[in-house]
Amino acid sequence: MDGIVAISGGASGIGLATAEAALAAGASVAIADRDPAALARATMTLDGPRTTTRMLDVTHEDAVLAWMEQLEGVRGCVTSAGMSGVTPALETPAAQFRQILDVNVTGSFLVAQAAARRMVAAGQGGSIVLIASVSGLSGMKDRVAYSASKAAVINLAAAMAVDLAPHGIRVNAVCPGPVETPMVRQLHDNATRAAWHARVPLARYAQPEEIAQVVLFLLDPARSGYLTGQPIPVDGGFSTAGLMP
Ligand SMILES: NC(=O)c1ccc[n+]([C@@H]2O[C@H](COP(=O)([O-])OP(=O)(O)OC[C@H]3O[C@@H](n4cnc5c(N)ncnc54)[C@H](O)[C@@H]3O)[C@@H](O)[C@H]2O)c1
Repeated sequence: MDGIVAISGGASGIGLATAEAALAAGASVAIADRDPAALARATMTLDGPRTTTRMLDVTHEDAVLAWMEQLEGVRGCVTSAGMSGVTPALETPAAQFRQILDVNVTGSFLVAQAAARRMVAAGQGGSIVLIASVSGLSGMKDRVAYSASKAAVINLAAAMAVDLAPHGIRVNAVCPGPVETPMVRQLHDNATRAAWHARVPLARYAQPEEIAQVVLFLLDPARSGYLTGQPIPVDGGFSTAGLMP
């Protein structure tokens, strides 16, 4: 793969696995994250001349623009920075709702927009992959803000795909089911894990590398050049499963 892949939330989980997969495919990677400890660990893991790392918060427009401005040759962008919250609808504070939408929706938009501007300026097209979730395809218990934010991310991909198509830029949304990452290890108790196992036909969580390989496919114009604007569930069959006695 040519050029740089810029990855927000690249210090952990799906973003980190995507960085590793992109490096293995020959790309350079630029990862950004707000967690200094995770970023330090990722810097060790991804060490090499084709990796740059940067600490930033995706909700800070100026920081996102400054990060993208110093990257030459951005051909791919992955927005994996995200946060969740588990609170019943009746008890979700407005501040929590706003924060989750700010990080997941506004943050994804700012990173994708800044990357798209670099791609347009370079005149070579590119591919943007927004990490959404199966939570954006249906209602998830106790996750009003998260579900709403991921539904917005899915439509953000569709709308950006239309605007950016004339520039040769494709935009898609990946919708993972449950994935073994630090976020999930923190949020999923045994009952939640059992519920997922019962509802996912493949009866297991994904590994981050399995999501990364789909992201890589979407980044590569040789393999997915006619694919844009789509939500792609990578969920062990969850979103299409019917009755599972
Ligand atoms: N793990 C799952 O089961 C799952 C399922 C569906 C979707 N997702 C989505 O995948 C994405 C990655 O999640 P993950 O499971 O790899 O989690 P993770 O916690 O391992 O990684 C997310 C990274 O994003 C960073 N981040 C969070 N807010 C940020 C901000 N404002 N600015 C910059 N960086 C920020 C975190 O520091 C972290 O390093 C998220 O958008 C998440 O919603 C995860």
